[in-house]
Amino acid sequence: MPTFPDHLAGDGPHNPFPGIKVLERKLGHAIPHRLGSNEGLDMPHRALRERFGDAAADHAYGYGDAEALGIRQRLAAQQGIDLENLIVDAGADSLIALTLRALVEPGSSVVATAGTYPTFGYFARGHGAEVAEVAYHQAPGVLAPDLAALSDAAHRERSRLVYLANPDNPGGHLHTDADVAALRDRLPDDCWLLLDEAYGDFRDDAADGALSRALPGVVRLRTLSKAHGLAGLRVGYAVAESDVVEVMMKVRIHYAMSTLTQAMAETVLDAPEETRAHIDAVKARRARLADHLERLGAEVLPSATNFVALRLPDADTAGRVHQTLLGEGKLIARPGHPDIANVLRITAVEDALVPGRIEALEAALGR
Ligand SMILES: Cc1ncc(COP(=O)(O)O)c(C=O)c1O
Repeated sequence: MPTFPDHLAGDGPHNPFPGIKVLERKLGHAIPHRLGSNEGLDMPHRALRERFGDAAADHAYGYGDAEALGIRQRLAAQQGIDLENLIVDAGADSLIALTLRALVEPGSSVVATAGTYPTFGYFARGHGAEVAEVAYHQAPGVLAPDLAALSDAAHRERSRLVYLANPDNPGGHLHTDADVAALRDRLPDDCWLLLDEAYGDFRDDAADGALSRALPGVVRLRTLSKAHGLAGLRVGYAVAESDVVEVMMKVRIHYAMSTLTQAMAETVLDAPEETRAHIDAVKARRARLADHLERLGAEVLPSATNFVALRLPDADTAGRVHQTLLGEGKLIARPGHPDIANVLRITAVEDALVPGRIEALEAALGR
């Protein structure tokens, strides 16, 4: 199995401020008198209370739970994951950065698909890693990360980590669990797999536990930004083996997730039926949007996400449509990578289905 960077493999570093919540659990009793954390507990917060109410203001005062136990307990119970296999942070993005910080030495090589979710490459370069890119597998109706090319590159470059978004963004492609497991098996021993499952909740088999297991040598990322509608709050989590979670906890920014964020996320997780209904509604909208675009003659790519991607015959047309819509105050997504500059991505929100909303695209498709 892959190793940890030398400076994190032994004892420490130890978080100097795990906070009152962690201390209470360790001592087994409450600490109602917070006289030592230098918070602003006497602030009246009149303006905050007026705008957001007492509940929001009351959550603003204290440093939060550095272990996000309330969120982890709910995720553990709902998905059958052990607590020790869960780590929560400020969005899947933060967890990408955290994974790099915990598992990849600056200067080493990492591998990703050219044109996939670009934040990975952005953070990897910022971390001082060398990013090797491999092309997508493209065929009629297919835009899929090329798993064989990813593992070949990892061997060639002696990479420390391979990034795979599954389902993928921007293509929407879902590789089977068996294919992902085979990729893990083919990677070099000392190479981690960062499996970004930000869109996993939209998989048809998500409710059957497809997402729950911690896999050796793999860090699986999820988010509450999509299916739970909390992108602005910033909540994501990773599922990994407990020794990996331990090392990630060593370098996590301990109070990056606010107390208010944690309380709100717990509230949303306590209403799973609302999330399930939202996922069903998203899938129905996705089908309507795909159907609409297909009827116009577009090459719509199969999507296991909350968006629909389509491939236009050429990059110029895609660029023109993108710019025209943007000029009209309508933002659809166009990947920045030249390999897939003819791809457009539209989120399956009701607004996208309003007649006339994406007329510039419909016109380009020769409606
Ligand atoms: C593949 C992928 N990973 C991660 C993220 C970021 O998620 P979060 O909002 O939890 O940081 C996104 C958001 O679009 C995404 O598409």
